[in-house]
Amino acid sequence: MASASSGLASKLSSFSKNNFLSSSDLNTNQILSLFELAKQLKVGNRRIDLGNRVLGLIFKKASTRTRVSFQVAMARLGGQTVDLNPQVTQLGRGEPIKDTARVLSRYCDALAIRTFSQQEIEEYAEWSSIPVINALTDLEHPCQALADYLTIQEKFGELKGINLSYIGDGNNVANSLMICGALLGVNVNICSPNGFEADSNILEKARSLTEFGSKISICNDPFKAAKEAQVIYTDVWASMGQEKEHLKRKEIFEQYKVDQKLIDLADDSVVLLHCLPAHRGEEVTEEVLEGKNSSVFDQAENRLHVQQALLAVQLGGL
Ligand code: CP
Ligand code: NVA
Repeated sequence: MASASSGLASKLSSFSKNNFLSSSDLNTNQILSLFELAKQLKVGNRRIDLGNRVLGLIFKKASTRTRVSFQVAMARLGGQTVDLNPQVTQLGRGEPIKDTARVLSRYCDALAIRTFSQQEIEEYAEWSSIPVINALTDLEHPCQALADYLTIQEKFGELKGINLSYIGDGNNVANSLMICGALLGVNVNICSPNGFEADSNILEKARSLTEFGSKISICNDPFKAAKEAQVIYTDVWASMGQEKEHLKRKEIFEQYKVDQKLIDLADDSVVLLHCLPAHRGEEVTEEVLEGKNSSVFDQAENRLHVQQALLAVQLGGL
């Protein structure tokens, strides 16, 4: 046990105090070691006490899973979180990020930030002397992708060569799935309507990370994508900040609804994932979300374990 723990510590020490702004901030070995640590924490084989460390939460968008899993993860590590909601801090009145970041670095040990632009989170990281964690931007949702692949590893016992088809909007969740999947040897196919494909720069970035032979592709045919899938993943058609486009998108995305017909095209044991919150009757039907192939609540639970592992590493607790 002691040697297994110290082995993990040495594999992960290179990530101590690092930012986690993009799925590409971790390498393959670090991700797999984080999963090992997350699984140890999950089954209670490992206790880590960081001793009164504080994580600041700056959330400009709504959140249930990310916010609460970070709060609980810190509590389990013997630390705590402080809510730095822009509505109740000077951020909401226009205090610059460069000042806010330097002040908060004197009080907190890490910051988890959910906001709109990736550039904003990068600016926080530039001015902070403590680790900054991307808790979702319009471009990426890297903590989500860690939980997603941990769940897939638990279901299949491996990651390399697994075929994941993401059917829906080429959004932040899809982007992080591509990058993290590339690092883990997963074949990721992002299937979206014309004009809603995943970000081309992220696609290129993911393809540059495929040293373990994964195939990262985009397509427009949901039936073909479903047929090839061992994992079918979907997310909302209109993300936070796109509410005005909701009705228009509902028409455009209708063919991309993950319903029983689509699930039946895939292998009988296909795993359905969704980052949640779900819009039942839109991107996924009630029948499928609640059906035998759905692992969405195991997936949501893994947010906690993998983020607890991430914080333990970033805050130097190993
Ligand atoms: N999946 C996810 O990030 O959920 P929340 O928006 O509730 O945090
Ligand atoms: N793509 C969604 C994910 C929510 C967890 C959004 O950004 O709103």
